[in-house]
Amino acid sequence: MHLKIALLAGDGIGPEVIDQAVKVSDAIAQKFSHQIDWSPALTGAAAIDAVGDPYPAETHSVCENADAVLFGAIGDPKFDNDPSAKVRPEQGLLRMRQMLGLFANVRPTFTFPALIDKSPLKQERIEGTDLVFLRELTGGIYFGERGRKDDGNTAFDTCTYTRAEIERLARKGFELAQTRTKKLCCVDKANVLESSRLWRETVQALESEYPDVQVSYEFVDAVAMRLVQWPNSYDVLITENLFGDILTDEASVISGSMGLMPSASLGVKTSLFEPIHGSFPQAAGKNIANPLATVLSAAMMFEMAFDLKEEAALIRKVVDQSLADGVVTEDLTQEGQKAATTSEVGDYLVQLIQG
Ligand code: IPM
Ligand code: MN
Repeated sequence: MHLKIALLAGDGIGPEVIDQAVKVSDAIAQKFSHQIDWSPALTGAAAIDAVGDPYPAETHSVCENADAVLFGAIGDPKFDNDPSAKVRPEQGLLRMRQMLGLFANVRPTFTFPALIDKSPLKQERIEGTDLVFLRELTGGIYFGERGRKDDGNTAFDTCTYTRAEIERLARKGFELAQTRTKKLCCVDKANVLESSRLWRETVQALESEYPDVQVSYEFVDAVAMRLVQWPNSYDVLITENLFGDILTDEASVISGSMGLMPSASLGVKTSLFEPIHGSFPQAAGKNIANPLATVLSAAMMFEMAFDLKEEAALIRKVVDQSLADGVVTEDLTQEGQKAATTSEVGDYLVQLIQG
C-alpha cells in the first residue's frame, strides 16, 4: 500500500518524538511491503518563527492532500508568558482542527501490566481499565461567540451546539461501542445547561438505531469523580469539547505517565494522530522525552486511517515488549534502573520489529 502522510513535528519535544514514530513506521512499512511518502510541514511556534503564522496555508494544503497527518506537539513558553502576543501556537492547532474538520477526538486510556505501579492510583482500582473518550473537537465554547463588554469589565464565552454536530459525534460513539463492550456513556451537565439538554435529547433519539448498545447518561461532575474511583466501569464516553479536554487529562493519570497515551482526531476527510501530551519545553533537545505516546499514535494511524490492523498490532506488541524489557525513558524507570534516551527507545523498537 502507498501511504501519504503529512508530518507535523511542531514545537518542543515534538521533533524528537516524531523522529521515533517515523523510524518505527518505516520499519513497519518495510516489513509489510508498504511505501510511506512523508510530507513534512511547519506548525506551531516553529511556523510563527519561520513565516509568522502557526498554521500556514502551505501546511494546510499538505495536510489536505495527505491520507493522514502525524502530529508532534505545539506550544512554546515564550508565548505563554506574553499576554500581549497577537499570534499564539495554540491558535494554529484550533484553526487546523476547524479547517480539517477534525470533529471527533478519540482519546483512549488503558493500563500497561508492566507499569501498573506507576499510576498514583491504587492498583486494584485501575487494573483492567480500557476506556475511550470521544471528545467533540470543533464546536462548543472553544469556537463560540466570545468577547468583552462594559468597557472590558465583563467577559463572555458561549457554548453553542447544533443537533447535527452532536449527532455525527454520537454516531461515532455508538459505532465504536459496538466494536467494544457495547457500553456508551453520554457525559453532560443537562441539569443546568441547555446545550447539554440538546446533547441528551439527540443521543436518546439515536438509541433505537443501535439496540445492542447500552447507553447511560451521567453528569460531568459525577464522571470526574467516578473516573478515578471506578475507571474500569467505563467503556466509551462521548462528550462536548471543554468537558472532554478536562476529563481526558484526568484520565491520563490512570495510565501512569502523560508520555504514554496516543490520540486520533477523525475528520471529514483527513484524520490526525498525535500524542496527548504537550510540547514539554523543559525537555526539548535533551533526548529524554518518552516517545511511546507518539509511536502508539502511529499505531492508531495504521489501524484507523489505513485499516492496517496487523501493522498496528505489531507496533503495540513491541511497545509492550520494550516496557517489559525495561528499555524506557527516565519518566518510567524503576529504582536503580538506567534510563534509555528517546532515540534509544526508538532504535530498540525498530530492532524488535525487524527481529
Ligand atoms: C488539548 C490541548 C488543547 C485543547 C490546547 C493546547 C488548545 O489542551 O489538545 O487537549 O485545549 O484542546
Ligand atoms: Mn487538553
